[in-house]
Amino acid sequence: MLVLGIESSCDETACAVVADGRRILSNIVASQHDLHAEYGGVVPEIASRAHVERFTPVLRGALARAGVGLGAIGAVAVGHRPGLIGSLLVGVAAGKALAWGLGVPLVGVDHVHAHLYAGLMAEGDAAPPEVALPALGLVVSGGHTTLYAVGCEGGPGGAGVLGIERLGGTIDDALGEAYDKAASLLGLGFPGGPALDRLAGEEGADARAVDLPVSRLGPGSLDFSFSGLKTALLYAATGGPAGGAPALNAARRRNLAASFQRAAVSAVMLKLGRAIDGLEQRGRRVRTLLAGGGVISNSRLRAELVGLAQERGLRLVLPPPALCVDNAAMIAGLGQEMLRAGVRHGLELAPVPTTAC
Ligand code: KG4
Ligand code: ZN
Repeated sequence: MLVLGIESSCDETACAVVADGRRILSNIVASQHDLHAEYGGVVPEIASRAHVERFTPVLRGALARAGVGLGAIGAVAVGHRPGLIGSLLVGVAAGKALAWGLGVPLVGVDHVHAHLYAGLMAEGDAAPPEVALPALGLVVSGGHTTLYAVGCEGGPGGAGVLGIERLGGTIDDALGEAYDKAASLLGLGFPGGPALDRLAGEEGADARAVDLPVSRLGPGSLDFSFSGLKTALLYAATGGPAGGAPALNAARRRNLAASFQRAAVSAVMLKLGRAIDGLEQRGRRVRTLLAGGGVISNSRLRAELVGLAQERGLRLVLPPPALCVDNAAMIAGLGQEMLRAGVRHGLELAPVPTTAC
């Protein structure tokens, strides 16, 4: 069966056609970064208007790339939570209209859960990766930083990929948001996460030059906090109220970027280790590390995830960069799993700003 996926939760307008839940026939994403760059962040009203303008061309593009017409679509899956309410509204309204008009089932999908599913998909004729459950799931993006147990016997949703249990999440900034704010402080533009990553990797960058804090929170906590790190970076860059910081020249900016990256990634790795140990203590031996979200493109995070998986004997499933960012293929994929499990939504499906769990 072919599922049409629709994604509009933030500032990407996306449509995709997916076969059997795992094979991507098309995956079109129209980013709005150019519209928001001058404001240093996503402006909700601009985002929702841009979704309205871009939706139809993106849908046409996705159908054309897949080589099918609307008549071939067997179901519509739409990301209906979480996100900016005005942005979600555009995708949800389009999804409902299409499902109703075509007389096919409709399913509303949680965007953050779909980021976890992205690594299970494959483009064209490539074979989708085999994934052994239970898995520890990590979603790190501009809006979310959350840890999940996936497919644990006795967990909510049961032992399959729909068995998603939230273990912890950020209590303040998302990791991508912290990267973007740090990048802005270092004068790297918006969204600056990738630029900060590049600067931190430049020759001569010393990740130990500045001792920035790695947040732990309470013993055993699986939550994250990045606001202290952000403030520490600000003080290191400017000297804080007392002033007197070293000049913010190219070498200093490189070192600050590398030191920020080291502290931020260390905080994530610390919680992953804790989560694996905690699940094992509950008799759930984790077999796979499943990661998703825009920040998974980060070079240091990817390298450290590879190291952790080797050390713990886990299979690591990382989506390619095109499936790390917001996209509709992951929405169609998880939507197909939900449809298989009998989930259907009616025209009362509403956008919801918060995640399900
Ligand atoms: O998943 P995504 O496309 O959108 C959200 O759902 O938020 O993630 C975008 C976020 C932005 O904050 C961006 O700066 C960050 O992912 N990002 C990175 C890197 N590539 C993207 N952060 C750090 N290093 C990167 N290489
Ligand atoms: Zn996202």
